[in-house]
Amino acid sequence: MTKPRIGLIGLGTMGRALALNIAENAEPLAVYNRTTAKTDDFIAHTKANEPALAERLTPAETLEGFVDALATPRAIILMVDAGDPVDKVIASLRPLLNDDDLIIDAGNANFHDTNRRAAAAVEQGVPFIGMGVSGGEEGARHGPAIMGGGPKEHWDRVSGMLEAIAAKYKGEPCATWMGTGGAGHFVKAVHNGIEYADMQMIAEVYGIFRDGMGHKAAQIGDTFAAWNDGVLQSYLVEISGKVAHATDPDTGEPMLDIILDAAGQKGTGRWTVIEAQVLASAIPVIEAAVFARNASSRVALRARGQDVFGAAPMTLPDGALDDATLEGAMIAGKIMCYAQGFELLHAASTHYDWSLPMPEVARVWREGCIIRSTMLNDMASALTEAPDDTLIFAPFFRDLIETHTPALRKTVATAMAHGLPVPALAAALNWFDMMRTARSTANMIQGQRDFFGAHGFERTDRDGKGFHGPWGSS
Ligand code: 6PG
Repeated sequence: MTKPRIGLIGLGTMGRALALNIAENAEPLAVYNRTTAKTDDFIAHTKANEPALAERLTPAETLEGFVDALATPRAIILMVDAGDPVDKVIASLRPLLNDDDLIIDAGNANFHDTNRRAAAAVEQGVPFIGMGVSGGEEGARHGPAIMGGGPKEHWDRVSGMLEAIAAKYKGEPCATWMGTGGAGHFVKAVHNGIEYADMQMIAEVYGIFRDGMGHKAAQIGDTFAAWNDGVLQSYLVEISGKVAHATDPDTGEPMLDIILDAAGQKGTGRWTVIEAQVLASAIPVIEAAVFARNASSRVALRARGQDVFGAAPMTLPDGALDDATLEGAMIAGKIMCYAQGFELLHAASTHYDWSLPMPEVARVWREGCIIRSTMLNDMASALTEAPDDTLIFAPFFRDLIETHTPALRKTVATAMAHGLPVPALAAALNWFDMMRTARSTANMIQGQRDFFGAHGFERTDRDGKGFHGPWGSS
């Protein structure tokens, strides 16, 4: 029997789904998990449910057996938990591999780790690529979006297989090489930061409907479902409608009303914010989304705050806001958020010398991933026209912003006047207002800096730097 050339290590939920996807849409593969019981369970389950695919899986009980089961040159996909486990598996694999084998880390790695592993791979001689995979379990099984990073020649060795298993947007595979080293994982982190922001803006509008307008979950679900037929069409709006419609089988209550209001996070959104700070890139909508998740987890503190200070009034006067205004606010907020995300990618591309293919990033996100939406196709077109420009200046988005920013302003002002928290929507609006203010207030900051630290400033009426004010002694 011909040996498979692809192997996959790590049979958790995502690993199992990706293995079946490869078996079904690309080629036979060998699979291995440190705990053999997991491998046995996976094989037994596949034999029972998808016997034709089970035939295409070669299970191995030991790492040595797994490596031996593969034809050379091998390509080994790691689907283990990000962080230490990846380093451990690589360390165990290296002595067993040849110089032309390839290790592919497909987990949610921090791009700094991927950079480090890529550099070590060059030193130690086993090729390595790191790729971001988005789409959850369903995506991994039936077509994720794939963002690759590492030496292009190694990506080219497996790109055919990756394109075969990736999601397709009108037939175009959503799998692209983004650049060297950790470029793929960086793009995936920004994807997740945007994911946090999209989710947060939806949650804020849900809050206005629930606490400001007294809408029931099912009614909110209907509104989201209707929005999903318009400009806001996206996977996240679609599933938010479904979440709002769901009923708890135990109590018969809307599921949303039973779920604790404390959001978890594995931290990829936080990484995006950290990297934006390092690069001095402004992504306030994503920052607000991370802040909101952190604040949500302070359940006891929030309850104490309500006891001590009382809840904000929240209830809106009749007609203060309506569905169309909130939809417009979401449209404007979303464009501003994506403009910031792409600006961060641009800053990183320059700083790390990646030449990130901006239109390709938007194209890869059109299908398979969590932030997939119709608008991403328009973003891909805008970035094709002007890859280095800020999205709000692209004619298509400029029109949408001009149309919908009044709705965003009305939404934020009304919500804040009644104590409804809208940190992400407000961050979008503040960012936009700053970005269209030619004369900002930073002249005051410069005056202060020079006053207490003689840091110097530039003048508007003369060339040169290092001017000082007439402050006298401070
Ligand atoms: C995806 C998701 C996926 C996962 C993240 C985010 O693109 O498929 O982003 O990677 O949902 O782990 O999870 P947290 O919300 O826990 O950070």
